[in-house]
Amino acid sequence: MDKPIFDHIIHGGDYNPDQWINTPEIWDEDMRLMKLAHINSATVGIFSWSMLEPEEGVYNFEFLDKILDKLHENNIAVILSTPSGARPAWLSQKYPEVLRVEETGIRNEYGVRHNHCLTSPVYREKVRNINTKLAERYKNHPAVKMWHISNEYCGECHCDLCQEAFRNWLKEYYHNDLEELNFKWWNGFWSHKMTDWSQINSPKFRGENHVSAMKLCWNRFVSDSHISFFENEIAPLREITPDIPITTNFMKMYDGIDYQGFAKHLDLVSWDNYPAWDKGRNVEEACDTAFVHDTFRSMKDGQPFFMMESTTSLVNWHEVNKLPRPGLQSLSAIQAVAHGADSVQYFQWRKSRGGHEKYHGAVVDHCGHEHTRVFGEVSRLGAELEKLNDVVGGRSDSKVAVIYDWENSWAVKHFCGYNNINRKYFEECVKWYKPFWQKGVSVDIIPMDTDFSKYDLVIAPFLYMLKPGTIKRIEDYVKKGGSFVTTYLSCLVDENDLCYLGGFPANELKDVFGIWCEETDSLPEGMKNSVAYNGKEYSVEHVCDIIHANGSSVLGNYEKDFYAGSPAITVNNYGAGKAYYVAFRNDEDFSFDFCNALMNEIDISSDTALEAESGVIIRKRGNVIFAMNFTDSDKVICLDKEYTDILSDEKISGKITVASCGYRVLR
Ligand code: GLA
Ligand code: ZN
Repeated sequence: MDKPIFDHIIHGGDYNPDQWINTPEIWDEDMRLMKLAHINSATVGIFSWSMLEPEEGVYNFEFLDKILDKLHENNIAVILSTPSGARPAWLSQKYPEVLRVEETGIRNEYGVRHNHCLTSPVYREKVRNINTKLAERYKNHPAVKMWHISNEYCGECHCDLCQEAFRNWLKEYYHNDLEELNFKWWNGFWSHKMTDWSQINSPKFRGENHVSAMKLCWNRFVSDSHISFFENEIAPLREITPDIPITTNFMKMYDGIDYQGFAKHLDLVSWDNYPAWDKGRNVEEACDTAFVHDTFRSMKDGQPFFMMESTTSLVNWHEVNKLPRPGLQSLSAIQAVAHGADSVQYFQWRKSRGGHEKYHGAVVDHCGHEHTRVFGEVSRLGAELEKLNDVVGGRSDSKVAVIYDWENSWAVKHFCGYNNINRKYFEECVKWYKPFWQKGVSVDIIPMDTDFSKYDLVIAPFLYMLKPGTIKRIEDYVKKGGSFVTTYLSCLVDENDLCYLGGFPANELKDVFGIWCEETDSLPEGMKNSVAYNGKEYSVEHVCDIIHANGSSVLGNYEKDFYAGSPAITVNNYGAGKAYYVAFRNDEDFSFDFCNALMNEIDISSDTALEAESGVIIRKRGNVIFAMNFTDSDKVICLDKEYTDILSDEKISGKITVASCGYRVLR
């Protein structure tokens, strides 16, 4: 999709008016309040299946007709949902096979959401039927601008149908060759050789759960099942409404589905953003969240995404649900826009009266009127977003990429050995992202099978597994002049978790990095080593590769233990580029200094010429600059020239203040 769907920032969210079917005056009041809050979009029908199909094959669209017309009359765009995330009770009663079977082998009873089998032909058929009806009925409705498919796909099913589907998936993956599977899973070991496909089951606590290659296959199968379930859902929509774009809402770094693979099937990526603000680590939380935004922004080559959900105040699912202080949610919304979101959407518009989510934040509280702090903040933000039309579709140009790869995250989780309790793949990737984020340098977050050639610097923390072709791509990239950084426990195994023979890092990468890693030490919690680099000492924890510099230059050495004095940081000139190996798990201090040295060397500077006091995050999107303060005190930024403050429409220059939990948007 080259052109954005809307020419303005979408401000809206989940709207569940089915809850107020018997009090339609509330629907009218909603329209009045939506206008006051500068709401321009509503996501409708997410959980409406039992209303739309009260009995099998009996459809009733009266409520949806009315609400779509009403929204349209009020100039509010509709993002229409398919309802597969939650089922009517009659469906599971009549067709128990649609209910999910847990890992224990026990079939769930009716209840909650996403409690369905992904394979069940009956469920797929029922979903296709209701989706067909929705598409036929609303294909020409002027309010409907986008499809929201299901809701937060997640989970897995272990029923007989899914076991059979898993076996079929494996047959395809391993070319119908059981011997290939036995080899790739290293099944000869422990006498686990399979002699018939029917002997294979899903990984289970009470069954096979020690074969990492099998667990990787299960992850891939479950992920593919979600995608094929989704493809089944959207088939009638693609046919009947080919011009209406399609999205589904992702959940942060949820690892049950390979989102990077799934994104290829979407017209637009969207995700639900619920940072845990005000738990005493706002700056860190902001960095984690920025990383996630950039992950989603990078999934379709920098194409803007939607923030499909967020809360206006608190959630109801933390152990203790602290109210974020005034301003923070708006700052959080602006952060999303700064990182590439073309929408700010909430769960949900009006608080439920009953049920599980009645104490979750919403725009309209139980009091029912607009005179609340939260409503005020949402309306103010809505008015501000109306001034940001220029941002829509805007992209950021990244010269730096950090590899975060879903399949690698599975592999890192599954292998047994070294430091089994401190894997921290996400945290490690964020640690290497942070120095650039702090400096206002845009970073793409990419899977390993991306074309690296557009980047000046690629950082691959803990790149344990190498998918096919990765060795060659790293080699070519460095040869042609790229700078590539990787860290400890990287380049060990292939996509089946089979170790590369001949020493680590794998194959030609030994030449690319100019090292051989002979052993790996793991440090129990609290035990530290240290590394000397550029005259400074840095703390080392959890993992230390013990490496030989075979041709590379040593930039730092270990200082303790029997490997004191041996290389810990190396750089190798390879072709026209450089390959760096950081052999240990470093602290933030180290990655900060190391990345700043790299930026100097490769000539990567901040995306803007603004100077900001530490703690203010600067982010450029298109030609708009966002300055965001996640700290507890007001901060100053120094403007290099005259700017327009887009929100106040004033010309500004020199020193300006960004209030605590505040932001400025400049052009
Ligand atoms: C998810 C769901 C919503 C709602 C919110 C609550 O994101 O998609 O339906 O349950 O969580 O935070
Ligand atoms: Zn199943």
